[in-house]
Amino acid sequence: MPHTIIEPFRIKSVEPIRLTRREERERYLAEARLNVFRLRAEDVLLDFLTDSGTGAMSARQWAGIMAGDESYAGAPSFFRFEAVVRNLTGYPFVIPTHQGRAAERILFSVATRRGDVVPSNTHFDTTRANLEYGGVEPLDLVIPEGREPRVRHPFKGNIDLARVEKLLVEQGDRVPFGMITVTNNSGGGQPVSLENLRAYRDLLRRHGKPLVIDACRFAENAMFIKLREPGQGARSVREIAQEMFSLGDGCTMSAKKDGLANIGGFIALRDERWVEAARNLLVLTEGFPTYGGLAGRDLEAIATGLEEVLDESYLRYRLRTAEYMGEKLLAGGVGIVEPTGGHAVYLDARDFLPHLGREDYPGWALCNALYLEGGIRGVEIGSVMFGKRLDDGTETYHDLDLVRLAFPRRVYTQSHFDYAAEVILELKAKARTVRGVRIEKQSKYLRHFTAELRWA
Ligand code: F0G
Repeated sequence: MPHTIIEPFRIKSVEPIRLTRREERERYLAEARLNVFRLRAEDVLLDFLTDSGTGAMSARQWAGIMAGDESYAGAPSFFRFEAVVRNLTGYPFVIPTHQGRAAERILFSVATRRGDVVPSNTHFDTTRANLEYGGVEPLDLVIPEGREPRVRHPFKGNIDLARVEKLLVEQGDRVPFGMITVTNNSGGGQPVSLENLRAYRDLLRRHGKPLVIDACRFAENAMFIKLREPGQGARSVREIAQEMFSLGDGCTMSAKKDGLANIGGFIALRDERWVEAARNLLVLTEGFPTYGGLAGRDLEAIATGLEEVLDESYLRYRLRTAEYMGEKLLAGGVGIVEPTGGHAVYLDARDFLPHLGREDYPGWALCNALYLEGGIRGVEIGSVMFGKRLDDGTETYHDLDLVRLAFPRRVYTQSHFDYAAEVILELKAKARTVRGVRIEKQSKYLRHFTAELRWA
């Protein structure tokens, strides 16, 4: 029996990608003010900036695009979407939004007050920013192993229950609900175990607090549980995913990840508490409750995507992709977050560029170098993304400087990954030539998207 885990699909429609020369890339990056977010995508060869909204849709999803009903109110596409989400999550109240952060903004607007604290394993950057925007303090309480790039643990996304308990005991009145991100994106795409989810739910329940799941990559998380958690191997990933949702009281979701769609998101809730206020805000800023900022065809694509994503041969191939890249990089002596997560490989930039200090933003520098070396675009998950310039001009730093190479779903093939690993290993051989960077211009929120930088 051959052991290669193949892409479980064949390709019906192709998009050319463009090879560029190094001198061209140097010009493009300079024009982008050393910020890969400002590059034109056509100047990128392998785009690992994000796995969000960048996946390839299936023939069934494209068929759904044609079948989508665009009625303003009560479109059949909405009811199909609603039924799929209800069946998956068990949550009866389903509120579509144009993407994940809109779900966050709406839920936080109605469910938090200024001065609140919301714990999670690690809040994603938009989640953190949406909380902070409302005067709410986001707390990242991942287990200590989750902060150590080289420490292996099967569920590095687990939340530290002792620290949550301390928070609830000491400042419980400030906590409107607990959150958990599955998989834990900012911590390396690491999964959360069912055991941890259960214990977290129980702890919150004892203090009368609901649990909200940031469910963007729920299917990848469920597959990790199937593969790694004792006693779960014989269950279907659908069953595991359903149990994950059953432990929460609601979720925010970006359908651009495990919805296998290019746009979309939703809030789903178990009880009515926040529903009316959320729908009122939805009408104000997103749209009528049966489309919420999406076209009917998008709702169709998401409904089909949420079903397809639970296909176990797909998920096996999906998790194998990151693992395969990780094996090649580790064999070449490149420090990465171990074990590899579901949607991405995270390079440890401080390890890759030991000659740089944190004020050189090694993650950002490595990101730029990867683009120059091989036309690969990754994203810094480090001190430009999570650090801050305070009003007095001092700078705060993140405790890790990583570069995330996130893999679009069903888009690249094995030879693309072989090429990417070669580029990274060639760069490693001349890592000392990579210079640090300085921030020249930045905005107050989510500064990494628009910042302008220069070489140090
Ligand atoms: N939560 C998590 C865990 C995410 O990874 C993202 C998006 C969001 C919420 C927000 O969803 O983009 O639909 O508004 N993550 C993307 C990424 C952008 O590249 O990891 P959105």
